[in-house]
Amino acid sequence: MNEFYQKDIISIRDYSREQLEKIFASTDKILQQDPADRREICKGKTLGYLFYEPSTRTRLSFESAVASVGGNSLGISDITSSSHQKGESLADTVRIMSIYSDILVLRHALDGSSRFAAEISDKPVINAGSGTEEHPTQAIQDLFTIKKEKKKIDGLKIGIVGDLKYGRTVYSLLYGLGNYDVDVRLISPESLRIRSDSVYEIKKKLDFTESTNIEEDLDELDVLYVTRIQKERFPDEEEYLKVKGSYVVGQDLLKKMKDDSIILHPLPRIDEISPDVDKTKNAKYFEQAEYGKYTRAALLGLILNENGF
Ligand code: CP
Repeated sequence: MNEFYQKDIISIRDYSREQLEKIFASTDKILQQDPADRREICKGKTLGYLFYEPSTRTRLSFESAVASVGGNSLGISDITSSSHQKGESLADTVRIMSIYSDILVLRHALDGSSRFAAEISDKPVINAGSGTEEHPTQAIQDLFTIKKEKKKIDGLKIGIVGDLKYGRTVYSLLYGLGNYDVDVRLISPESLRIRSDSVYEIKKKLDFTESTNIEEDLDELDVLYVTRIQKERFPDEEEYLKVKGSYVVGQDLLKKMKDDSIILHPLPRIDEISPDVDKTKNAKYFEQAEYGKYTRAALLGLILNENGF
């Protein structure tokens, strides 16, 4: 039996390097497959989605992914239009969604929400963002993008800049990178450094340095992963205003980087990458968003087929 069959995706920490490489190989297979053959992979399967927080890419890439493998989707993208407004609990909503779907995708503001949902649902649950904790399918997409664009992950120097305290994509990416031999540089304002409760876990598998200065050793980086300051997660708006606009990647910084370096961003972007970077050969964040559709299609194919595809 395929090892991903009917398994939840809650944390990237549950995946070994070997498993990640299997997912990347399945994604490559999806990319190369004839569209008609691809539509057989999840034919007739229903993906249910439940988004308690806003999303553009994650929800739409899951919808697009399931359609591309022959399935369909239903769900709640605006929680205010659901019976949550009448007081229905997350537990009951998950129970109902798991009756109508073969697999459930959940985004919620609370840490632990996806693990909680997985305990209730009798269908597999995919964490599409749980509080400030994790966004594992984003990390799979990020690692796949690095591998496609740089032809390897081992040996790379990777800078991660921005909101390292509240950005859940950062935690999943760091846990995922822990499976590879990489040199990581974390760049953030002092107040947005990576959370101390996660440092111990990350340090077990990954070497990293911390800095507030984006220009320090910028010329050595192969990958610059830029993140948004997560305004909505600050308990105090004054604190947000102090760090707003701390880093803006523009042509001036790009000129200091290696010619073949790549710039990634999970998106949405606010002002941390100038639009004039978009047309450069280094900007790979829109390709990254596109790879998200294919990595998610591969995951659905693996989770919903006993013998894989
Ligand atoms: N990267 C990401 O999670 O984007 P959305 O919030 O638009 O889903």
